[in-house]
Amino acid sequence: MAYTVPKLKDFSPSTLNHAEEDLLAAFKQEAEDVRRLAQDPTTDLLGKRTAFKQFRDHWMARANGLLAQANENWLKAAPPKEKGGAGRTVNKIRALLKVGVDDLERHVNFCATASPETLAKVGASQALNLTEPQQRIAGQIDISLPGIHRAIGAAHPIIRTQNEIVAVFKNLGYSVAEGPVIETDYYNFEALNFPPNHPARDTQDTLFLANQESKPRREQLLLRTHTSPVQIRTMEKLTPPLRLVIPGKVHRNDPPDASHSPMFHQVEGLAVDTNITFGDLKGTLDHAMKSLFGSDVKTSFRPSFFPFTEPSAEMFVSCFICGGSGKRGNDNAPCRPCKQSGWIEILGCGMVDPNVFEFVKHNGYDPEKISGFAFGMGVDRIAMLKYGLDDLQLFFQGDVRFLEQFA
Ligand code: DAH
Repeated sequence: MAYTVPKLKDFSPSTLNHAEEDLLAAFKQEAEDVRRLAQDPTTDLLGKRTAFKQFRDHWMARANGLLAQANENWLKAAPPKEKGGAGRTVNKIRALLKVGVDDLERHVNFCATASPETLAKVGASQALNLTEPQQRIAGQIDISLPGIHRAIGAAHPIIRTQNEIVAVFKNLGYSVAEGPVIETDYYNFEALNFPPNHPARDTQDTLFLANQESKPRREQLLLRTHTSPVQIRTMEKLTPPLRLVIPGKVHRNDPPDASHSPMFHQVEGLAVDTNITFGDLKGTLDHAMKSLFGSDVKTSFRPSFFPFTEPSAEMFVSCFICGGSGKRGNDNAPCRPCKQSGWIEILGCGMVDPNVFEFVKHNGYDPEKISGFAFGMGVDRIAMLKYGLDDLQLFFQGDVRFLEQFA
């Protein structure tokens, strides 16, 4: 039968003691039920959290939780000379319930995100032992019990991929730079040789901040559409020679679907020195791709256009899913990631356009004396390829069942 907080006929120590014992026994029983449910791999995350919240409200709700009722029936109802004893009882109960509820919450949170294997282990170890809150409520602590597990976070697969890319270039002696996500028109476009009204701006699906019309165009704010503006920002601060990678978030006005997201990630690269050639670009990027995808991959460069590089290229890697054949498995199924072509487009690159150096010429970047290459790659796409995903949105939904697989 469900427990109710009794009204007391007298407030003697023994009556209060009995009342306390009954209440704590009911609390332990109910906590144990929620604990079992949390450990049940067939109950979903929402079910576990809902059960915990109902339990907490049942006992702790300010308005009419069982603790509040004990306060009413036992403390407030006690005659003045027995208030002391009743107060001590209610205070003790309050402290014990708080500990019990907090412990249970940690346990439920842990179980809600734990794998079925971990849950099976937790269940087995606790079938033999009293649980820790019960021990504490009973006034003893069994130090031989396992501690409470706290789920440790793990790097998000996109950040992990970003770190891997950055590490490859760090090993080549590159430094890491970052820049703002809210950027001016000047850095995102103008200084990268996108003149005002140039059609190349259309390819960037830019999200502009509202109410910027009164400012001169170059000061107007937008969400950066690529990490390339940090090329200019760092060249303004640092003199050549330069070897940089620039990871970061970028935004474009693309509705989310399996291969698009209005927010995604890029890693930009920039190398400037005397006598940097297209051969350096090819060698560096070929090495980077072999480090990232395995020493078997081949690279291929095809002519392209970016306003800030000349010449520009797109780099492809041979498909590491099908080995470049365009077909998969024994039944020769078409390879989807490379669209059966055997090649996957991985980044844009090129030799820094002399017009870009003109914007930072005062800081040692005289296009007559120095040259450089640049590249930019999409981290999210690379992460999808590496982990074999077909839906980009999985990265952004925050579902622990997906994310914990990378822990
Ligand atoms: N910023 C380009 C984009 O987002 C990618 C890119 C292409 C970056 C060529 C570069 C580059 O540095 O040289 O589409």
